[in-house]
Amino acid sequence: MKALLLAGGLGTRLRPLTERWPKPMALVGNRPWLEHVVLHLKEEGIEEIVMAVKHAPETIRQYFGDGSRWGVNIQYAIEESLLGTAGAIKNAEPLLGDRFLVLNADIIQRTPLVPLIDFHHKSGALVTIGLTEVEDPSHYGVVEQAESGRIARFVEKPALHEAPSRRINAGIYVMDKEALRYIPPKREVSIERETFPLLIEQSGGLYGRLLGGYWLDMGTTDRYRKLHRDILDRTFPLQLHAAERDQSIWIGEDAEIGSGVLIVPPVLIGSRVRIGERSVIGPYTVIGDDCEIGAQVRCAESILWDRCKVRMGAQLNHCIFGHDLELGPHHRLHEAVMNRVPGGIS
Ligand code: GDD
Ligand code: MG
Repeated sequence: MKALLLAGGLGTRLRPLTERWPKPMALVGNRPWLEHVVLHLKEEGIEEIVMAVKHAPETIRQYFGDGSRWGVNIQYAIEESLLGTAGAIKNAEPLLGDRFLVLNADIIQRTPLVPLIDFHHKSGALVTIGLTEVEDPSHYGVVEQAESGRIARFVEKPALHEAPSRRINAGIYVMDKEALRYIPPKREVSIERETFPLLIEQSGGLYGRLLGGYWLDMGTTDRYRKLHRDILDRTFPLQLHAAERDQSIWIGEDAEIGSGVLIVPPVLIGSRVRIGERSVIGPYTVIGDDCEIGAQVRCAESILWDRCKVRMGAQLNHCIFGHDLELGPHHRLHEAVMNRVPGGIS
């Protein structure tokens, strides 16, 4: 079975991080999230992957190529204009088989996929939606279900008092090719606002099944921070690309930690990172590969992507830095979410 990854959204709620960098490529535990998705699919026995992309497709293509580095085969369905979630699936139709998986690429989960696929086989559904339950469903697609699992109503982002339940679309679908007949070609179509309601009305073939385990939509900076707390606390068990040198202190290859540096766990430090003497790093801090941290820097509850440079004596608290950001000596930043500034901040 093939899997289609919807990776073409603009990621507006994660700006400025996603201004020059597609949201599904946001680093999660120091690797692009999309790479974790590819690894998860491979573990689940799915080795044929199609990526539906629009925004900055080159970043994604250059990173993954044909997928052979991960032992999978990756193809790309590129949209000329933004087609929406259903339009993107329709656009990828020539690359898909009779039955396939669709995943929102910004969904953080590692749920077993076989039970969802089995349920789909048995129920005779055209589309089966993986569901999860949340406290506040108003930011998601909310379902009302009949006992068999059939979905009687699907409402995208309802006001809280109008939500029919707390059960939401987790952004994972098993779909039959036949369902694509319900999507008009060559225009923007939202699967949540148009296609699901149409399927309910005209076919009754929309089903849902609860998924287990950790689930998070990383679409806002608050959720992105929470995700990293959960990784460092092991609430969300994610395979990290670094050795655990001490309790909850993970350090990548060839990192150089200066004398007198205090690391307050939990902390993840990437490969080839250099940290100057007497700096204090942590807690809840992630430092990307090839970052250079000067002497006497303080960095707490912050996430830095790759190749950032933080000069001597700077202090960071609750910050998120995109790739290649440079911060001059003795700056103090609190709760800043920043992307690269030409010439750095000096
Ligand atoms: N290729 C392509 N083209 N991908 C798209 C497009 C498009 O035009 N529009 C959105 N996507 C991708 C995004 O990159 C993301 O991975 C996924 O589709 C969902 O889009 P979001 O913009 O993140 O939607 P959302 O988070 O507001 O809501 C969706 O996800 C919720 C679960 O997190 C909906 O599917 C909700 O019903 C669902 O509950
Ligand atoms: Mg989302």
